[in-house]
Amino acid sequence: MQRRSETWDSLWAQLLRIDFFAGKWEMYRKVADSRAEWLEKTFQLDKQKPVLSCACGEGGIELALARRGFNVTGIDICPAFIHFAREQASTEQLASASFLTADLRGANPLPDGFGAVFCFDTLGLLSDEEEQKLVRKMASALLPGGLLLVDCPLREAQAPARTWWEQNDGYVLMDTRWDKDAGVQYIDPIYITAAGEFVELRDPYDQTREEHTGVIRYLYTQQELARIMQPAGLHAQAVPHQRKGYFMLAARRGGPVSQI
Ligand SMILES: C[S@@+](CC[C@H](N)C(=O)[O-])C[C@H]1O[C@@H](n2cnc3c(N)ncnc32)[C@H](O)[C@@H]1O
Repeated sequence: MQRRSETWDSLWAQLLRIDFFAGKWEMYRKVADSRAEWLEKTFQLDKQKPVLSCACGEGGIELALARRGFNVTGIDICPAFIHFAREQASTEQLASASFLTADLRGANPLPDGFGAVFCFDTLGLLSDEEEQKLVRKMASALLPGGLLLVDCPLREAQAPARTWWEQNDGYVLMDTRWDKDAGVQYIDPIYITAAGEFVELRDPYDQTREEHTGVIRYLYTQQELARIMQPAGLHAQAVPHQRKGYFMLAARRGGPVSQI
């Protein structure tokens, strides 16, 4: 039996997100539209001020916000996602949605002047140092009084799981483990192709874990996540979240928490 590794960019992003949702876009779009509506209403987002979404994936929420009249910029490291999001924006003639392929790590600043900056379901994937830097960069991307929203999976929602499904003439096997003491989630997918090859996911986002396969993700507690925002001058507070199994923190640049 042949074994090989592929990165998130080379195969897995396409397989687990874009191909996975193929044929289910109606449902996917409904969920994204409802989330965008919830975000707009809950946080009274101002359509006159642009929104930046860091690690936007294939752009579901971002496109949904553009459909509601927001000017949105989505950034992600994965070219397949950005390609998909751009195509969708073009098909739907959403000129107010733009998507950039970029690495959020490192010293390069983000564009600035945003009324709201989002980072959904991503913190915990990068190193501690990179995440601290990213929080600072997101704070700087906000206009005074602008809103930062981040969400992360809840620790108490974690449970070990083994699932499989048929996809693209092969099978995906997904093994999810949760190390409660370390606060770390391990996601190990295997793709068995129609030709019988075993394809592993090599985590492309943390070069220090080059040897590792699958995704290793630290799951922050709400308090820990609020703490990493403090050096950026952000006083985050937990807000009720619409997304099951996740918590959300919100903070305003230079503004009192009570304004949320
Ligand atoms: C779990 S997905 C979340 C996607 C989307 N925000 C959502 O909530 O559905 C994590 C995303 O982070 C992106 N990502 C990981 N490391 C990144 C980096 N260094 N720079 C930019 N994007 C990154 C991945 O490509 C992926 O789209």
